[in-house]
Amino acid sequence: MINFHGVAKEYENQTAVRDITFSIEKGEMVFLTGPSGSGKTTLLRLIYLAERPDSGSIAIAGQDVSELKESGIPLVRRHIGVVFQDFRLLDNRNVFENIALALRIRGAAEREIKSRVFDALKTVNLRHKADSWPRKLSGGEQQRIVIARAMVSDPTVLLADEPTGNLDPDTAESVVRTFKDIHAKGTTIVIATHNRDLYRNSGKRVLRLEAGMLISQEVC
Ligand SMILES: Nc1ncnc2c1ncn2[C@@H]1O[C@H](COP(=O)(O)OP(=O)(O)O)[C@@H](O)[C@H]1O
Ligand SMILES: [Mg+2]
Repeated sequence: MINFHGVAKEYENQTAVRDITFSIEKGEMVFLTGPSGSGKTTLLRLIYLAERPDSGSIAIAGQDVSELKESGIPLVRRHIGVVFQDFRLLDNRNVFENIALALRIRGAAEREIKSRVFDALKTVNLRHKADSWPRKLSGGEQQRIVIARAMVSDPTVLLADEPTGNLDPDTAESVVRTFKDIHAKGTTIVIATHNRDLYRNSGKRVLRLEAGMLISQEVC
């Protein structure tokens, strides 16, 4: 589903990741870990085509995207849901409208929007919060709404960057459970985290980065 071969990315002479080679199978749930600055966010952004590699090749769902033209990016992204830190809920729209936004932009019919938004809310167990305002929700609920928003287009791949970053351990656990539910239904998931609790004894593969290099990939 996701294949990196010898991928490197630099920002203004600063190497972010180098010589990264790995494969993630369809339906797999994988954790990406490593200290701050080790390249986790860069790796996710490369998968999402928000950054382009300086060398090496990247394939998503069998398509080589390393040299894909800008115009081809939206079509690939349609298959990828993201839970990124710089992509917060809009405070001036209720939960339903936050989740519906991407579908509206795409010009989807009202009936389809309703059905998809409620499906996504069901996935994160927050159907009853459709009319709520984001600020009225707890941190964990807000994060699950962000996950619902990422799932509304029924992506094949879900990427999450430090999804439990600001949450207490119990709340973090509920967010992890949500990811596991989504994974159980067949979505490929990549979660970047420096929080060991998220993957300890998970039975999932953990890709470990250090100073921009992939130093291990073991089942934890
Ligand atoms: N936009 C950027 N401009 C310059 N350097 C960056 C930028 N983004 C990340 N970096 C650098 O790239 C390296 C990897 O960063 P990042 O991928 O954010 O790591 P992590 O998510 O593991 O903390 C770090 O040295 C960081 O300072
Ligand atoms: Mg990061």
